[in-house]
Amino acid sequence: MADENKVNTGHHIEDKELIKNARKPVGKLGHQILDRMNRSHESMAQWGVTHFEVMGDSKILDIGCGGGRNIQRFAELISENGRVVGIDYSEVSVEKSTELNRKYIDKGIVNVLQGSVSDMPFYDETFDIVTGFETIYFWPDFINDLKEVNRVLKKDGLVFFCNEAVYREGEMDKYADLVELLDMKIYSEDVLRESLEKTGFKDFKAYLDDENDWICITARKI
Ligand SMILES: C[S@@+](CC[C@H](N)C(=O)[O-])C[C@H]1O[C@@H](n2cnc3c(N)ncnc32)[C@H](O)[C@@H]1O
Repeated sequence: MADENKVNTGHHIEDKELIKNARKPVGKLGHQILDRMNRSHESMAQWGVTHFEVMGDSKILDIGCGGGRNIQRFAELISENGRVVGIDYSEVSVEKSTELNRKYIDKGIVNVLQGSVSDMPFYDETFDIVTGFETIYFWPDFINDLKEVNRVLKKDGLVFFCNEAVYREGEMDKYADLVELLDMKIYSEDVLRESLEKTGFKDFKAYLDDENDWICITARKI
């Protein structure tokens, strides 16, 4: 008989209460899952970031920054003329990202804020690059949220998303439990392309790592 405290994530059998925190980390389990995601998403993130270039003076926004490992990665690449901002609607994620990036925050090149992708406290055309690692599944209104991403990007600015749950026709049953538990959406490459094209982006590109089941996409603001 299936254990009702467990969930099949499509890759492993895990504790439901812990995995629920992937959507919005809270409390002790939130801290625990963020520590884990900083490690478990590392190979995918390293692969993902090979698909675009970060310059010394890049202004980068990481949405759904979680435990802050990607903020740290970008902070290590930029000069004192660049900036990395992380935003996340979870208080615990903001706390963790701040803790991990304290050195760069004190140096004045990193900032971490609490807020939702749907309504971000940034001026129009602020960033050269906007990234989202393992987060778009949870965005409440994808089209409007992409318009918000578009608004804060500079012209020709790059949007980048990276996910380890890949939509494949006829193979989605394995994610059924996880999708129900987290109320998440796994977008197909076609939906990602169409959504970006109708919200002011061009040059859509998708990259798949079939061995590891990773997808990342890039596009540019028109
Ligand atoms: C699965 S975690 C990924 C964290 C990190 N990017 C990583 O790759 O390890 C998803 C993160 O997205 C955040 N998130 C989900 N929906 C959000 C929203 N609407 N606005 C801002 N952050 C959101 C969650 O709080 C969580 O920290």
